[in-house]
Amino acid sequence: MTTAHESPASEAEISVHWREEDYYQPPAKFIAQANAADPDILGRFDEGHFPDCFKEYADLLSWDAYWHTTLDTSNPPFWRWFVGGRLNACYNCVDRHLATDRNKAALIWVPEPEDEPTRTITYQELYRQVNEFAALLRDFCGLRTGDRVTFHLPMVPELPVAMLACARLGVIHSEVFGGFSGAACGERIADSGSRILVTTDGYYRNGQLFDHKAKADEAVRTADGLGQQVDKVLVWRRHAGRCTSRTPMVDGRDFFVDELLAEHHRAVVEPVSMPAEAPLFLMYTSGTTARPKGCQHSTGGYLAYVAGTSKYYQDIHPEDTYWCCADIGWITGHSYIVYGPLALGTTSVIYEGAPTYPDAGRVWRIAERLGVNIFHTAPTTIRMLRKLGPREPDRYDYHLKHMTTVGEPIEPEVWRWYHDVAGKGEAVVVDTWWQTENGGFLGSTLPALQPMKPGSCGPGVLGVYPVIYDENGNIVEAGSGKAGNICIRNPWPGIFQTIWGQPERFVQIYYAKYCRNPASTDWRDWPYFAGDGAVQAADGYFRILGRVDDVINVAGHRLGTKELESASLTVHEVSEAAAVPVIDEIRGRAVEMYVALQPGTAPTEAIRQAVTGAIEREIGKIARPKNVWIVDDMPKTRSGKIMRRVIAGISNFSDVGDVSTLANPEIVDEIRHRIQSAKLAHGEVPRQLTREEAAEIRSFGRNE
Ligand code: PRX
Repeated sequence: MTTAHESPASEAEISVHWREEDYYQPPAKFIAQANAADPDILGRFDEGHFPDCFKEYADLLSWDAYWHTTLDTSNPPFWRWFVGGRLNACYNCVDRHLATDRNKAALIWVPEPEDEPTRTITYQELYRQVNEFAALLRDFCGLRTGDRVTFHLPMVPELPVAMLACARLGVIHSEVFGGFSGAACGERIADSGSRILVTTDGYYRNGQLFDHKAKADEAVRTADGLGQQVDKVLVWRRHAGRCTSRTPMVDGRDFFVDELLAEHHRAVVEPVSMPAEAPLFLMYTSGTTARPKGCQHSTGGYLAYVAGTSKYYQDIHPEDTYWCCADIGWITGHSYIVYGPLALGTTSVIYEGAPTYPDAGRVWRIAERLGVNIFHTAPTTIRMLRKLGPREPDRYDYHLKHMTTVGEPIEPEVWRWYHDVAGKGEAVVVDTWWQTENGGFLGSTLPALQPMKPGSCGPGVLGVYPVIYDENGNIVEAGSGKAGNICIRNPWPGIFQTIWGQPERFVQIYYAKYCRNPASTDWRDWPYFAGDGAVQAADGYFRILGRVDDVINVAGHRLGTKELESASLTVHEVSEAAAVPVIDEIRGRAVEMYVALQPGTAPTEAIRQAVTGAIEREIGKIARPKNVWIVDDMPKTRSGKIMRRVIAGISNFSDVGDVSTLANPEIVDEIRHRIQSAKLAHGEVPRQLTREEAAEIRSFGRNE
C-alpha cells in the first residue's frame, strides 16, 4: 500500500461539466414551524464564532458538570471537546424525558411480518428495560466503565436498549451490522477486545426467518483464533420464550436474555457520570487495508453534535413521528435513529425488515399507519421504491414535512421522484453528506433557510467549513468546474477521536495528507481529509462524486477492495484477486471480482462459487459480487501492481485508458473480449457512462 503522502498525481482533479440544477424552495408551511427559520443562526456559527458556537449544541444536553474548555487542541489531531464536562448519554436520551413525557412513545417497532402487531415502547418502558439490561451487564457479565461489548443485532428494539444500557454504565458498545458474517463479527470482537457478545436467535428479512445465532458461534471461533476469548454470549429471543435457532446453546457460555432478566426485575442502575471525552461507542468501517477501522466516538461531543444536527437539519420537534429507514448497525442508525432523536425526546420508528417486503407499498403503509411526518433513507432504497412502485405513494394517505437522503450520491432524476412523488411535493428534502468517522452531517442544507438543489448535498453545515484541495494542497475554487479532494478545515464535536488501537493510522489516513505543520497546535494547520472527490458550485453547494480511495460504496455500504480480495484469497486455488466497482442501477455500485489461479489449475464453476462463498463468509451477503471472472493473468504495471482501473474499465464497458506502459498490455484485449462477450451473452445491456462515472472508473485504484 502506498501512503496518502505518496499518492500519485491527481485524477480527482477532473473537469466536471454537468448541468446546473434548478433550486427548489421549501414550502411556507414548513418554514412556519422550522427549528431553524431565523437566518441569524448562520452568523452565530460562522468562522468568527468557532469553536464557541457549539455551545448552542451542547446546551441541548443535560450536564452533570459544565465544561471549562470548549475545544482543546493541545495534542492535534486528537481534539478534545467540552473538556471538564461530565454527563451520561443514557440519562440524556431517557431519564430526563420522564418528568414530562413518561408515557409518550420513544420507540415504535414495526416487525416485518405484517400480521404481527407493532410494539410501542414509551420513555418509561424504555427506562425500565434499559435499567434491567444495564443491571445484567454489570452484575452478571461484570462489565465496568471503559470495557467493550460487541453486539451483532439486527433491527430489533433490543438493540437500542442494549446501546443505552451500555451508555448508562459507561461501557463502550460496538455494534456489528446484523448482515455481516460471523467471521466479520469475530474479527471486530477481537479488534475491540470484547469478551461479551450480544446477539439474537433470529430475525425476519424479505419474508425469511434467519438463523442468526449460527453466526455467533462462528464469531466466537474467529475471535478465539485471533486470541480474544468470548466468555458469554447473550441471546435475545425474537419470539417470546421460544428459540427459533437450530444452533444449540453452549452450556456455560450462551444465555437467553429473557431468562437472565428475571433476576434483574425492577433493578435500577444509577447512570454513571462520564467525562465528555470518554468513548461512547466504536463503529467499524472499511478503508484501504483489510483491517477494519474501529471509529471511536466520544460521549459529550458526539451527543451534542447529533442532538444539534437532528434539531436543525432533521427539524425534529418532540411531537414529531420520525422514521429513519436505515439500519442501526450503521452510523446513520446510531446517530439518527437512536442518539439524536431520543436526545430530543421525539418518537423514533424502527422497522425490522426489507423496505419492499411484501410489496412496494410497505414503506408508505407504515408512514400512513403511524402518522410519520419525517422520513429518512438512502438513495438505494429510494431507487428501489421508485423502480418497483413508481406511483405507489399516491395510494396512501401520509403527509411528510421533511425527508432526508444519506449515504450515496443521489441522481437528480431520483431526487425529483423522491420530492414530487414520495414526498407529494409537500416536504423539504435534505441531502446529507457525511461518514462513519464524522458522527453527524458535514454537508447539507438548513431546510427552511437554504434552497434545495437536486444532486448536491449543499454547503458545509453549521460550524463546519469544507474546502476542496488539489493533490498539492491548493484550493480548488468554487465555481471553477474542477473537482478535487473535499476536506474539512476545522474540527467539530462529532468527529471521531481515533481509530481504536491504531492512533498512528488515524493521523496518517485523515490528517497527514494536508497537515501544514505537524508541530502546530493550531487547528487551522490540520485539515481533515475525507477521502471523497467533490466539486463546489459558485453558490457554495458541494456535489460529492464518491470515494477517492479503494472503497466501493455498495448500496451505501463501504466495502474495502482489500477486504474483498483477502476473502477471495482464502480459496486455495486463487493466486491473485482484484475487486472493482461496476455502475449499478439500484445499488449505485456493485462489486465484480477478478481472480487468477495457481499455476496448473483449471478454471471451474466450483472455484467461482467458492470465491463468492468466501466473500459471504468473511464479510457477509451484502458484499456478494455480481460476477467472479477467472482470468489467466491481470493487467500489471512493470513493478507488478494490478491495474484495477483497467479492469474496472472492462467491467463497465468504458475506456481503459493508456495501457502501453503495462508489463503485459496484450492481456487487456484478451480479457476485454472474453469478459464483455460473456456479459453480453448474459443479457447485460451496456450503457454510456456519464462523464463523472467514467472519471470515477478511470481513476479507480489510484492509491495502489
Ligand atoms: O463517499 C461518501 C458517501 O458515503 C461515504 C461514507 O460512507 P459511510 O461511512 O458508510 O457513511 C454513510 C452514512 C453517513 C462517503 O465518504 N456518501 C455519504 N453521504 C453521501 C455520500 N455521497 C454522496 N452524497 C451523500 N449525501
